[in-house]
Amino acid sequence: MKDTLITKIIDNIADIRREVSRFKEKKAKIGFVPTMGALHIGHESLIKQAKKECDIVIVSIFVNSIQFGPAEDFDKYPRQLESDREICSKLGVEIIFAPAQEEMYPHSGNSLEESFTMVVPPLTYQDKLCGKSRKDHFNGVATVVLKLFNIVTPDNAYFGKKDAQQLLIIKKMLKDLNLPVQIVDCPAIREPDGLACSSRNKYLTEESRKKALSISKALKKAEELHNSGLSSVSSIISRSGELLHPDLEIEYFEAYNADTLMPVEKMGENVLVAIAVKIDGIRLIDNLII
Ligand code: PAJ
Repeated sequence: MKDTLITKIIDNIADIRREVSRFKEKKAKIGFVPTMGALHIGHESLIKQAKKECDIVIVSIFVNSIQFGPAEDFDKYPRQLESDREICSKLGVEIIFAPAQEEMYPHSGNSLEESFTMVVPPLTYQDKLCGKSRKDHFNGVATVVLKLFNIVTPDNAYFGKKDAQQLLIIKKMLKDLNLPVQIVDCPAIREPDGLACSSRNKYLTEESRKKALSISKALKKAEELHNSGLSSVSSIISRSGELLHPDLEIEYFEAYNADTLMPVEKMGENVLVAIAVKIDGIRLIDNLII
């Protein structure tokens, strides 16, 4: 019988640095998948891609407090390290880096602004979509991703297109700060019924899940309208928006240039159509690049 690998869990920076330098001595190519855990098939697809392209795969699991607003679900966010470890073992992940809060933010207790260097992505990448309602969210994401890159020093890092704005912001940070990491974009993975996989889906009741299916239907409709020759972005958004279930609290349903996040009036190459809603207090996002 084939031996099953048990993924090693490392919870501190000194140990992960030691492991990584051992791998580097052997010239191993290191693939890195940053996550907040509660792994689902979306995360799994990133890990599988990393396994295909790299010698060693490291997954980080860290619920990053500084990317959550005060009224958001940081405390409620699912934490399930043991079942995540089973998934990682099954997929052949060598190491999970799961640092404690104090390991990543030893200054805690003081206010962030006073005591901590933050990465602040450009305003034009932050003043729309999720950045509009989630103030400081992308400062928190960019900061933790840079810290993780500095700790893990991967060759490749894998991110999902499900979080399109996050992916663009990370690529922009990489370019602007000259980071020597190759970013690999991975397709958004959906459940068989079309709902984009998310760690928050487990909070949906059967009824709210049914309502949530109208999100991917509206995005598909936008694509169909574009394919049928409609080019006005506002008409596409308003006509496909009619499919959204009336109980959804729509935060945004908008289209931007998928490379620059600049506004677009006419459909052309690479338009990001993105949506965020709340259903029974649960926030879901989805998008399509058309
Ligand atoms: P998390 O939401 O756990 O997502 C980790 C990675 O999985 C991200 O790159 C995200 O885009 C990807 N992902 C999530 N759902 C996906 C899906 N349905 N299909 C494909 N990929 C999917 O994103 C974060 O964590 C955090 O912001 C993080 C980058 C780890 C920084 O804290």
